[in-house]
Amino acid sequence: MAKVHVTDVVLRDGHQSLIATRMRTEDMLPICSKLDAVGYWSLEAWGGATFDACVRYLREDPWERLKKLRQALPNSRIQMLLRGQNLLGYRHYSDDVVRAFVQKSADNGVDVFRIFDAMNDLRNLKVSIEAVKAVGKHAEGTISYTTSPVHDIPYFVSMAKELESYGCDTIAIKDMASLLTPEVTGELVKALRSAVSLPIHLHAHATSGLASMSIQRAVDNGVSIVDGCISSFAEGASLPTTESIVAALKGTEYDTGLDIGLLQEISAYFREVRKKYWQFESEFTGVDTRVLVNQVPGGMISNLSNQLKEQGALNRMDEVLDEIPRVREDLGYPPLVTPTSQIVGTQAVLNVMTGARYKSVTNEVKNYLLGHYGKAPSTVNADVRNLAVGNAQVIECRPADLLSAEMEKLRNEVEGLAKSEEDVLTYAMFPDLAKTFLQERNAGTLKPEPLLSKDAVTSSESRSRYAPSEFNVTLHGETFHIKLTGSGHHGEEQRPFYVSVDGVAEEVVVETLNEIEVSGGSSGNGEAKKKASSNTGSGRPRPSHPGCVTTAMPGTIVDVKVNIGDKVSAGDAVLVIEAMKMENEIQASKAGVVVAVHIKKGDTVTPDETLLEIQPD
Ligand code: CO
Repeated sequence: MAKVHVTDVVLRDGHQSLIATRMRTEDMLPICSKLDAVGYWSLEAWGGATFDACVRYLREDPWERLKKLRQALPNSRIQMLLRGQNLLGYRHYSDDVVRAFVQKSADNGVDVFRIFDAMNDLRNLKVSIEAVKAVGKHAEGTISYTTSPVHDIPYFVSMAKELESYGCDTIAIKDMASLLTPEVTGELVKALRSAVSLPIHLHAHATSGLASMSIQRAVDNGVSIVDGCISSFAEGASLPTTESIVAALKGTEYDTGLDIGLLQEISAYFREVRKKYWQFESEFTGVDTRVLVNQVPGGMISNLSNQLKEQGALNRMDEVLDEIPRVREDLGYPPLVTPTSQIVGTQAVLNVMTGARYKSVTNEVKNYLLGHYGKAPSTVNADVRNLAVGNAQVIECRPADLLSAEMEKLRNEVEGLAKSEEDVLTYAMFPDLAKTFLQERNAGTLKPEPLLSKDAVTSSESRSRYAPSEFNVTLHGETFHIKLTGSGHHGEEQRPFYVSVDGVAEEVVVETLNEIEVSGGSSGNGEAKKKASSNTGSGRPRPSHPGCVTTAMPGTIVDVKVNIGDKVSAGDAVLVIEAMKMENEIQASKAGVVVAVHIKKGDTVTPDETLLEIQPD
């Protein structure tokens, strides 16, 4: 038996899982010479979330990061995670964009492309695998592991065989949700080994506490490469610890040959780095076994809890967790990974919050049911499909077959702004973000989001500048969720505060006895605003008659489909709102004429506001 090889994910998945993908390039480069000396099989360093965070928060050019890492890691393979036909974005791209993206990623330093599809629809992987082989790089075909009545070992084996026939160099088992048990891992690796001649690479998250046991079974059954993370960014929602894997296999026939002393120096470096990002620390740094009970990945639970918190409905978490498996079954058991985890999770929240299943359906679920994400692993619920999309045509082909070449169009759209093909690709991934990003980069005015200094928040002098704007209050044994949405002028004797109590808008008039100055704060409530009491914190009226159109969840208006004077029927789509990264249509509550429009594209809205008013005929 040959030695087992190790991929370290600290530069990508490690900080993505534990500090919201915020590690800056300046904190990676100083340790690269040591990382480069370890002798890893590869270093995972690039992917969708790191690219997104660079543009959105760190205001770094993600391509520059890649170039710098390439220079600093001359002896190491750099690995990236690619979402098949979605590349690093959130939609399918035409094949020419896929080829251009792979070409530029390879030119700038990527050696290994780990390619997956959220649906495990192999048609969505084929073109990117071919593109990687065409530029002479390593293609790793990936199985997104999940459990369901259709996801058994023969299912995964047939996937692996197909991936081998596409020309892949290795096969990865990607257990993003931490569902693999040692027993299944052993059986799966063994079955894959006998079915294909390619090396098997295991990526198993540590969340549920089973991954290190699963790694041992994988090793015993012939896995060639395992993913780990250097200890200071390992475990919890991240991957198992690299040093521990190395120690466990030391002196056996599988000895990784890596130097634990060197690994510890690297770990000590990252331990210091991590302190700088304390404000982004995940709540889930320990073992979280919930996934073993309800099959909902830890990362998805924290997203859901944020979504429910925003709506003052955290107490409905259990209902949402019960609803998720039902939605997943209705949709034909997609694995829960970006973007299907958001699609299923958001629909489950809607089903619970609106009090009726599929009364409101996100555009993403509609597109999913129409086949635009690819083929569902199992059959979808025909009643749900009927309810959501009626008789609309379901596509049977590979979704990207419906797209015509788009590179030329993209180039034209950012002419003048884009200085390179890489810039055009950044724009292709994140059209809205990229335009301002490129403008500011060209002007030299990019500024990263500020990092909070721990001292500033903990010293007693500055502590008084922060006051909670969202909190739970327990009164007489009952807990209420309170969120401040606005307030009257400070200094007023009778000062109104607008709050949401368990999601219901309330006005509280407070007789002020003493005030402290509250400034800054991320809630945006520090600045007092004068409002008429029938209005919400944003100035929009509260719903007062049945023609008032409202939203079930807070979000951003992406489209206003009607104007004042338009006639609408009850149920007509009048607005499109983006909530929780999903687009959702809002329908007219009544038939009639639109008499008032209180929002415009780009506005942030909450459930206690009237967005449109319809005068019944
Ligand atoms: Co991962």
